[in-house]
Amino acid sequence: MKEIVLSGIRATGQLHLGNYYGALSKFVKMQNDPESKYINYFFIADLHALTTAPEPDKLHENVKSILAEYLAAGLDPEKSTIFVQSDVPEIPEMYLLLNMHVGIGELMRTASFKDKARKMLGLTGDNDENIEKEIIGANTNKRVNAGLLTYPTLMAVDILIQKATKVPVGKDQEQHLELTRRFARRFNSFYGVDYFSEPANFDFGGEPVKVPGLDGSGKMGKSEGNCIYLLDDEKTLRKKVMRAVTDEGPKVPNSPMCEAVQNLFTLLKIVSTPDKVQYFTDAYNNCSIRYGDLKKEIAEDILKVTTPIRERIIDIQNDDAYLARVVKAGAEKARENASKTLRDVREIMGIRPF
Ligand code: ADP
Ligand code: TRP
Repeated sequence: MKEIVLSGIRATGQLHLGNYYGALSKFVKMQNDPESKYINYFFIADLHALTTAPEPDKLHENVKSILAEYLAAGLDPEKSTIFVQSDVPEIPEMYLLLNMHVGIGELMRTASFKDKARKMLGLTGDNDENIEKEIIGANTNKRVNAGLLTYPTLMAVDILIQKATKVPVGKDQEQHLELTRRFARRFNSFYGVDYFSEPANFDFGGEPVKVPGLDGSGKMGKSEGNCIYLLDDEKTLRKKVMRAVTDEGPKVPNSPMCEAVQNLFTLLKIVSTPDKVQYFTDAYNNCSIRYGDLKKEIAEDILKVTTPIRERIIDIQNDDAYLARVVKAGAEKARENASKTLRDVREIMGIRPF
């Protein structure tokens, strides 16, 4: 039996190196698995993007650019079902049904909800008591929308409706996967069925990667404003890497690295070969390192990966007819599978035809 793989990325902007190494490159690897052990579904989560109120014109642009980026990075519509979430109306219907088994309290305790709600309300710090009162809206006219609260239900439905068991995502999505497993178990036990399997993250046995930002700390992310995009041209990309934060350099052999320098080495490990990592590690340890050379090497090696992808993105993005064909075929396949699950779920829940 082949396992079903499914993953998606929210349509909130161009893809960056974090999305590429944390998610997209893994999708391509699973699709191209030589033993062909997987049936793959990869989609663009535009309904999830609506939870943070994008402008309508921007949303469509983002869907289109992620689609072109998926294809340019190597996702192949002949091998994977590539679709747009909102093209599958079975998803919102099952989202309504599954919400009947999801607690408001457990959703309010989800870390991603609290983070985003805090941002929407303009709150600082992490005083949870305060945040709950603010969300209920006693003293504010700012609103946290219900779609944001039920974001994990929608994500669980994306996965469960396709009966996926492997979900390649970055580390930050673990809590959402845990909720998906909990909802699947709850549905099964409430109705006394053995209908849904529990999905898990998947990383070919390796550690999930976290691509760091080059601004000294933390991860690369859209909301961090520190991204190197797949679409950055050579000059922009080199400039971003050369501006990466470092320190004055080691003065004593084998000194510990500060976080900013560690981040550069983390990136080097992701994009370069082991011999180059060894070379620069030795240079750091014997104090001969020149950060300029390290950064040039990193920029060079990133460009080796991104330049061909970027060229393809530009070509594909302009081919509206091709993009339309891909999503139409993808939606048909995704709907075929989703409608079977929805039919069963309605039946199990007691929504039955006369
Ligand atoms: P962002 O954090 O930029 O808003 P998303 O939340 O849309 O990105 O993430 C889409 C996918 O990319 C997820 O699977 C996420 O785990 C992965 N991802 C995002 N940033 C990174 C990063 N810096 N390192 C590794 N994976 C990442
Ligand atoms: N929440 C995911 C993210 O922010 C995107 C997503 C939505 C997803 N539905 C999914 C990922 C289903 C995997 C499976 O990146």
